[in-house]
Amino acid sequence: MTIPQRSAGALSTPLGVMGIGCWAFGGGEYWGPQDAKDEESVVGQALDLGINYFDTAEAYNEGRSEEALGRALKGRRQQAVIGTKVSPSNAAPEALRQHCEASLRRLQTETIDIYMVHWPLPAHLVGEAFAALQALQSEGKIRSIGVSNFGVRQLQEALAAGVRIDVNQLCYNLFSRSIEVELLPLCERLGIGILAYSPLMQGLLSGRFRSADELPAVRTRTRHFRGDRAGSRHGEAGIEAEVFAALERIRALAAELQVPMAQLALAWILSRPAVSSVIVGVRSASQLAENAAAARLALEARWVAQLDQITQPLLDQLGASPDYFQDRDHGRTV
Ligand SMILES: NC(=O)c1ccc[n+]([C@@H]2O[C@H](COP(=O)([O-])OP(=O)(O)OC[C@H]3O[C@@H](n4cnc5c(N)ncnc54)[C@H](OP(=O)(O)O)[C@@H]3O)[C@@H](O)[C@H]2O)c1
Repeated sequence: MTIPQRSAGALSTPLGVMGIGCWAFGGGEYWGPQDAKDEESVVGQALDLGINYFDTAEAYNEGRSEEALGRALKGRRQQAVIGTKVSPSNAAPEALRQHCEASLRRLQTETIDIYMVHWPLPAHLVGEAFAALQALQSEGKIRSIGVSNFGVRQLQEALAAGVRIDVNQLCYNLFSRSIEVELLPLCERLGIGILAYSPLMQGLLSGRFRSADELPAVRTRTRHFRGDRAGSRHGEAGIEAEVFAALERIRALAAELQVPMAQLALAWILSRPAVSSVIVGVRSASQLAENAAAARLALEARWVAQLDQITQPLLDQLGASPDYFQDRDHGRTV
């Protein structure tokens, strides 16, 4: 049985409600080594399940993620929707064109289906960067223009440049619900599909980790965790006690419903119609099989409400800024 699909903005191809996050592909510092055979089996099996969206970025592992995805899609490119991202530092018009062409080469494709600006642009670049993206679109090098980590004001500035934006890729999971305050309703009103990233909060919501000290240091840099942890950029106290108390309540609910925690966490995101696709980082075919089952799990409204209630205190404390890496009042997403 294939997974359901949803529309994403005005994109002509609907997306599977679950997509594959390819950040780890090609191996690198953040996620460690990645077996190329696993990449091939994840991509092949995902396509067999009707998972058509694959998410990467030029910045992931210095281009190796795009290269690995291009290799893994060989012979099946037509079945896939590829989303990749240009870094804001490469968004001046001439650089943007060169970086788009480099991504096309690494991905071994003629066209990028969804080309996103990875993080908000400096105000002076907005007009010319989006004009350059429209030029690439009219030449067929990209099919659709998207953004990522764009806040309410930034989205409105981009739209004022006269561009059609189909998706906004945002961090969204049970512990990171800040977009619900303003951004999610705005995207819904504007017909911009949300691609939800870090849906398992980088593995934490699979239930594998029982304390912050068990997590790899790179995964504890957000405002959920103490600001004095290695690599953190924010200076806040964090909400670790609340996070792990909520985790235990979700674990208990998953046990009661007899579903793996990861599935419960993913199905909760899919209860939000504004989300076009949940982008999960998948390292192996076994993680894929477990996560894909969530796409078919219709969560009853009372369980959604219970998960909302369990995690509401985290939303209250984290506030409306969806940039969890920076202090609450100094987010880059505004
Ligand atoms: N636009 C942006 O700024 C942005 C930022 C972040 C991510 N993204 C995109 O979103 C994708 C997903 O986000 P993410 O990788 O940050 O976080 P995620 O999807 O929440 O977590 C991925 C990690 O969770 C673990 N995992 C996955 N399935 C599991 C399962 N069934 N059981 C146990 N553990 C499981 C794996 O960790 P192990 O490696 O420990 O097995 C995997 O690497 C990325 O690949 C990327 O494409 C975009």
